[in-house]
Amino acid sequence: MVTTAVNPYLDRNFAPIHQEITTDKLPVIGELPFELTGMFVRNGPNPQWTPIGQYHWFDGDGMLHGVQISDGVATYRNRYVQTTGWKKEREAGKAIWSGFLEPPQMDNPHGGYKNTANTALIWHAGQMLALNEGGKPHAVKLPELDTIGEYTYNGKLVSAFTAHPKVDPVTGEMIFFGYSPFMPPYLQYSVVSAQGELLRTVPIDLPMGVMMHDFAITENYTIFMDLPLTFNPARAQRGESVMMFESDRSSRFGIVPRHGDNSNIRWFESPACYVFHTLNAYEEGDEVVLIACRMSSTTVLSFADSQPDPDANIPRLHRWRFNLSTGTVYEEMLDDVASEFPRVNENLLGRQTRYGYSNKMANSPLPLFEGIIKYDFSSGQSQTHKFGEGRYGGEAVFAPRRGATAEDDGWLITFVHDEGSDTSELVVVNAQDVTAEPVARVIIPQRVPYGFHGAWVAGE
Ligand SMILES: [Fe+2]
Repeated sequence: MVTTAVNPYLDRNFAPIHQEITTDKLPVIGELPFELTGMFVRNGPNPQWTPIGQYHWFDGDGMLHGVQISDGVATYRNRYVQTTGWKKEREAGKAIWSGFLEPPQMDNPHGGYKNTANTALIWHAGQMLALNEGGKPHAVKLPELDTIGEYTYNGKLVSAFTAHPKVDPVTGEMIFFGYSPFMPPYLQYSVVSAQGELLRTVPIDLPMGVMMHDFAITENYTIFMDLPLTFNPARAQRGESVMMFESDRSSRFGIVPRHGDNSNIRWFESPACYVFHTLNAYEEGDEVVLIACRMSSTTVLSFADSQPDPDANIPRLHRWRFNLSTGTVYEEMLDDVASEFPRVNENLLGRQTRYGYSNKMANSPLPLFEGIIKYDFSSGQSQTHKFGEGRYGGEAVFAPRRGATAEDDGWLITFVHDEGSDTSELVVVNAQDVTAEPVARVIIPQRVPYGFHGAWVAGE
């Protein structure tokens, strides 16, 4: 909720920028490794115009910030994702759509909410897609970051598209889902072949519409999270938020064979919680194991609970064990430190990893990240890379060293903003030595606003 005169998500380094630039041969403090060739791209909200009504961080138009790295030299570009809504508002010279904190515009012929394409990116079958869970993906050209347009898999896409699809590193398949807040089917589940063909979409039954931001895969299964952050349009008529966390409902985790459907999904129940992001999942004996950042409740995107939970909105790394033979669930906290945007070496996605990376939240009412935590799940220990006083980063993405054989042989890459100098850098940290200074700090020629998810695309 907005409580200050200036919305904090339109202020300081959450404020949008409006120049789209390309700059090569960026200054580097330290040295960019020669075995690091590719492009880091990060998505995030960047409202083109002054918002209508209450502005939420999730509302801004998508803007991509990319750093291409080759032979130790870096080039920066930033571009809006030119969605239909972005173009309509460009023509109008002002905002047309309001955001999530306002009622949907049911009379807008282009949809009640704008598909901002602002959340995340996925590289699959030679195509980069900019994603927002409310609508269709947008294809983006690399390295230019120019928007090609909506991507529908030759018209086969019949659902919305999660911002967090999973690419199986062995089969090359991409697994995704789309959820529907108000109308059944509330969940549709799809598999795309390694070649980029949408193979199948099946409905999965849910009791009602829920906000389902992420999911997980293992070698053989897909895990859905039916958590009690529910949609109910009737609440709007009572002056309440359409979306609300219902603490008296259970969390349900559905485990379905990758090529299965609603007939063979198995549901496991555990106490109410919310999860924005999973780190990974894997199979171990009779168990399917899920690691994710769990909050005991959330007021994100809804009005505050009448009985506030002191742990609300604090994400902490947890592990669930779902036993497929006994039907039991075992849930445990792995760390009481608040962290979010967890990632692994994605060459091991769906398989047990020794390491995981998450981002340490600063002690702030705003989502600021003060460092990167490297978890060693075999020892139960962790190490933290700190960005330094007054410096905050975002999601750190793991980029493997070319030809690497060790799981953690590579770098953690994120944009960091220095609040004192109001400048931004791309920070490259050796994943095998996270407490050391970054191996490289690439000076970005303009401010990079805090944002959401990134992707590393290896190669020229
Ligand atoms: Fe996300």
